[in-house]
Amino acid sequence: MQNFSYKNPTEIVFGKGTIGAIKNLIPRERSVLFLYGGGSIKKNGVYAQVRAALKGLKVSECGGIEANPLYETCLRAVAIVKKEKLDFILAVGGGSVLDAGKFIAAAACFKGKDPWEILRQHGSNVEAALPVGAVLTLPATGSESNGNSVISRSATQEKLHFFSKHVFPVFSVLDPETTYSLPAKQVRNGIVDTFVHVMEQYMTYNSGAPLQDRLAESLIQTLVELAPVTLKEPEDYEARATFMWTATLALNTLIGCGVPQDWSTHMIGHELTAFYGLDHAETLAIVMPGVWQYKFAAKKEKLAQYGRRVWNVKTAREAIAKTEKFFHAIGMPTRFSDYKIAASEAAEKVCQRFHDRDDAFGEHQDITASAAKKILLSRA
Ligand code: NZQ
Ligand code: ZN
Repeated sequence: MQNFSYKNPTEIVFGKGTIGAIKNLIPRERSVLFLYGGGSIKKNGVYAQVRAALKGLKVSECGGIEANPLYETCLRAVAIVKKEKLDFILAVGGGSVLDAGKFIAAAACFKGKDPWEILRQHGSNVEAALPVGAVLTLPATGSESNGNSVISRSATQEKLHFFSKHVFPVFSVLDPETTYSLPAKQVRNGIVDTFVHVMEQYMTYNSGAPLQDRLAESLIQTLVELAPVTLKEPEDYEARATFMWTATLALNTLIGCGVPQDWSTHMIGHELTAFYGLDHAETLAIVMPGVWQYKFAAKKEKLAQYGRRVWNVKTAREAIAKTEKFFHAIGMPTRFSDYKIAASEAAEKVCQRFHDRDDAFGEHQDITASAAKKILLSRA
């Protein structure tokens, strides 16, 4: 096992009817920016619950955060924060709203000239941030309990991430009933994103961490079991509750302690969203099987272990096939042709990007520009 330090400061408040708890989680003297997305919270009753809980506090609202939140929109929110001297960000929505909240929190305190530098330097230059609280309405990203944020810039078709210990939410309210209104497509996306988060921290090589392996495998087994139930019965509370908690544990940094990590699927996937506008999870389902095939020799021991323990199959190849079959069973395509995108064009574009930035990813840092190209060409 590798050395590690572990600290997750986010207080999780979980369960039915828990939104009211934010009343006691935000100090009375704080002035709040209430951040949300395109309006789903107004239709499903979450907005009204949050408003009721915020009674008595100074609150400014900022809606309209997009899926794959835009830098340009975040800057408008930063201007509101500064103008109105707000000092607490309450993000209410899916991963996009939470990620936007984290970026706004960091940008509001940023001493440098150009806040885009936070993303270009992946957060290494973040020295402080306003406190962020969250009410999560979409289980998927794990953003409710980690220090990551991913922001897109439309002008340059870029999508970059940053990490900072300063932007872990101070609290996150997870009420599974808020997810009942999710369209099936978003549930499917959340299942796949959660699945791939586990795999980025697991599907590498044996590193003498049997507990982390079994934690990861149990998250996947749980996901495979609940996926058909929660897709078919959106209001099955127990299935939604299990899904929500599984998604949080998949990326709250616990299962990644002391183990090698890959993340090349995510890094290639972010480029595909930037260039083609595919949903985050859609990109992952295309790329991950390609990464596994490309790195077959290095990953086959772990693939076989996963196959045995999760799918009851004997070989690494069967484990890959089972994974794609699972994605298809929940309605998630795994090929470029499903989106009428030319794999050759996508491969060329991503290769050029990685080359320009001199990027290399994966547990062996060998997913370079040319490797990414080969992986994408195999996913036509
Ligand atoms: O904008 P509204 O109207 O709220 O609608 C949203 C949006 O259209 C809707 N939605 C959310 N909750 C709902 C709901 N509709 C009905 N009922 C509800 N309860 O769902 C749509 C998608 O929302 P979004 O927040 O974009 O989805 P998700 O949570 O999948 O977040 C995706 C973003 O997170 C980033 C991705 O790259 C992408 O930008 N990621 C963040 C990570 C992190 N912070 O750790 C890690 C991930 O790997 C990922 O990269
Ligand atoms: Zn993800």
